[in-house]
Amino acid sequence: MAGAAVSALTTLPLSPEVLRSFGPMAKATGDLPVRLDSNENPYGPSRKVLESMLSAVTTANRYPRPEYRGLVQRIAAMHRVQPEQVLLGCGSSEILRVAAVALLSPGKKFVQASPTFETAERYAQLAGAAVISVPLDREFAHDLDSMLSRIDVTTPLIYICNPNNPTGSVTPRGALDAFLAQVPATTTVLIDEAYHHFASQEPGYASFLDHPIENDRIIVSRTFSKVYGLAGMRLGYAIAKPALISRFRPYLTPINVNAVVLRAALVAMDDAEGIEDYVGKNAMIRHEFFNQAEARGLKPIHSSTNFVMMDVHHPAKQVIEHFQQNNVWIGREFPALDTYIRVSLGKAEEMKEFWRVYDMQGGKIGSNEARKG
Ligand SMILES: Cc1ncc(COP(=O)(O)O)c(C=O)c1O
Repeated sequence: MAGAAVSALTTLPLSPEVLRSFGPMAKATGDLPVRLDSNENPYGPSRKVLESMLSAVTTANRYPRPEYRGLVQRIAAMHRVQPEQVLLGCGSSEILRVAAVALLSPGKKFVQASPTFETAERYAQLAGAAVISVPLDREFAHDLDSMLSRIDVTTPLIYICNPNNPTGSVTPRGALDAFLAQVPATTTVLIDEAYHHFASQEPGYASFLDHPIENDRIIVSRTFSKVYGLAGMRLGYAIAKPALISRFRPYLTPINVNAVVLRAALVAMDDAEGIEDYVGKNAMIRHEFFNQAEARGLKPIHSSTNFVMMDVHHPAKQVIEHFQQNNVWIGREFPALDTYIRVSLGKAEEMKEFWRVYDMQGGKIGSNEARKG
C-alpha cells in the first residue's frame, strides 16, 4: 500500500503538463508574469532531479542528518577538500549572512564594490559595521586598487562577487591574486561564485575552487539556485579552511537544509549534461539578446552570466514600472547605475515578449528625446 503511494508520488506529478509548467508563463496562461527578475534557471531542474525530490518527500518526518553529512562529503570530494571545510547554507544568502554576523560588529568596516549583490551589505549593516562601497572600474570589474586603499586592520570582511551581479562582468583572476597578496592578514575575503558555471569559458576568469590558492582567509560561496535550477529549494555552500568554517558554523540554524534538496543536490551535481545544456542554451539566448539590443542602438555590458545589464538612457525606475505594467518582471533598481536595467535571460519566447514590451514605448526608451539630462 505504502509502496503504491510512493510510486504514484514519483510518477503522477511529472506529467507533460507539469514539466511544461516551468514557463514561459505569460504566453501560456495570459496572466502569470514573465519572470526575468531574479537570474533563475528558466528551464527548471531535470526530470532526474525532480524524481529525486519526489522520492525524498517520503522521508519528511525525519531529520535528514545522514543525508546532510552525505552532501557535505560529496561537495568536499568534488572540490578536493575535507568535509570540515564545507558549510551548507539555506541558499548562499545564508552563507553571506553568517559571514557578516560572525565577523562584523560596530566599529568595523565592510568593503564591497558598487553596484554589487546587496545581501552581504544588508547583514553588515545589521551587524553595525560601516559599509564602504567602491565603484566598479570602467570595465565593470572590481576596482581592486581603490578597494585595497580602503582596507585596514578594522576591516574584518570584504566581498568580491565574481562574476558580479548585477553587471554580469568578470574581475580577472590575475588582478585578484595580486590584490589578495596585499590584503591585511586580519581581513577575510568572501568570494561569491554564484554565477561560476556561466563564466568558466571567459578569458581571465578562474574560480578559486577550481584553482585554489594557499590562503587561510578566503571563503568561496556557490549556490544551487542558478545553473542547477533549484532556487526555490534554497541551497548554497561555502568552502574555506576549517578554522574559518568553525567560526561561522555556530551561526547556522541547526540542520538548515531540507531533506528534499539534500537529495536533489546529489543528482543535480552529477548531471554534467544538464549543466552543459543549460549553459549552452543561455549563451545562445544571450547572443540573440545582444543582437536585438544592438538593433535598437543599445550597448549592454558584456555578460558572463545568465543576465544582462544595459543602459536604456532613461530612469530605470520608470522602465521597470513599464515592464511590470505589461506583465514582465525585470531586475530591481541599482542606484549606482540608475539608467541601467538588469534582465535575466529566460526562454526564447520570454525574450521575445521582453522586446515586444520594450518596443511598445514606440522607441521612447533609449531614444534621444527621452534621454535623462
Ligand atoms: C551573486 C549572488 N550571490 C548570492 C545569491 C543568493 O542566492 P541563493 O541564496 O539563492 O543561493 C544571489 C542571488 O541572486 C546572487 O546573485
